[in-house]
Amino acid sequence: MRVVLLIGSPKPKSSTSQILGTIITDRLASNHGAEIAIHHAHRALRATRFMEALRADIETADLLLMSFPVYVDSLPYVLTAVLEALYSQPPTHRAAVAAVANCGFPEADHTHVSLGICAQFAYAMDMPWHGGIGIGEGTAVNGAPLENLGPFGARLKQTLHEAADALAARAPIPPEVIDQAARPMMPKRMYTFLGTLGWNKMARDNDARSVMWARPYDS
Ligand SMILES: Cc1cc2nc3c(=O)[nH]c(=O)nc-3n(C[C@H](O)[C@H](O)[C@H](O)COP(=O)(O)O)c2cc1C
Repeated sequence: MRVVLLIGSPKPKSSTSQILGTIITDRLASNHGAEIAIHHAHRALRATRFMEALRADIETADLLLMSFPVYVDSLPYVLTAVLEALYSQPPTHRAAVAAVANCGFPEADHTHVSLGICAQFAYAMDMPWHGGIGIGEGTAVNGAPLENLGPFGARLKQTLHEAADALAARAPIPPEVIDQAARPMMPKRMYTFLGTLGWNKMARDNDARSVMWARPYDS
């Protein structure tokens, strides 16, 4: 089985999207012998050679797996632009499509619109849709290994492995796996408490505490 992992985060270094996507592709490679090609939407958009390499890999792939963050309830622009480019010059071979969306809010529901867009992309491309996983509390991962989150990360990793096993069987991701992935990694109160600590630290580090409550557009 040949798999293309298309990472949609515009972050140049480690992103949560990359961490979550590679958990699935590592499992596909180690347990199912899959060959994996990893591409970044922001690179494909920046240089023709990266876009051509992506097209060539999709042409021979059995599965196109997209992993991306939710930006303003949708896909990041770099991923939208790459999907539009693929649509304007579709591959002759139709790989299956699946997606993993992660968002900053605790509720995974915030990924639904973006996953719907991915399903619509697959439909428009006449590629079989093998399902979308939505994950909340993505900021807790913050581009670091899931092991850093202890038991909270272990459960999610197990769920992503189950998704990989289904995709390896060339089947859609089972609904119970999608439901399991949507459950918050850690209690919402803990996540928002830690988030507040993180924002306050960022404000301190950037000498911005005094303007945290600024309302410049109030008349
Ligand atoms: C410009 C921007 C817009 C965002 N919009 C949303 C949003 O609408 N809903 C949400 O839950 N999280 C939103 N987030 C949070 C990201 O989805 C979240 O931090 C994610 O884990 C980042 O993943 P990455 O490391 O793969 O880029 C936004 C982040 C940025 C930078």
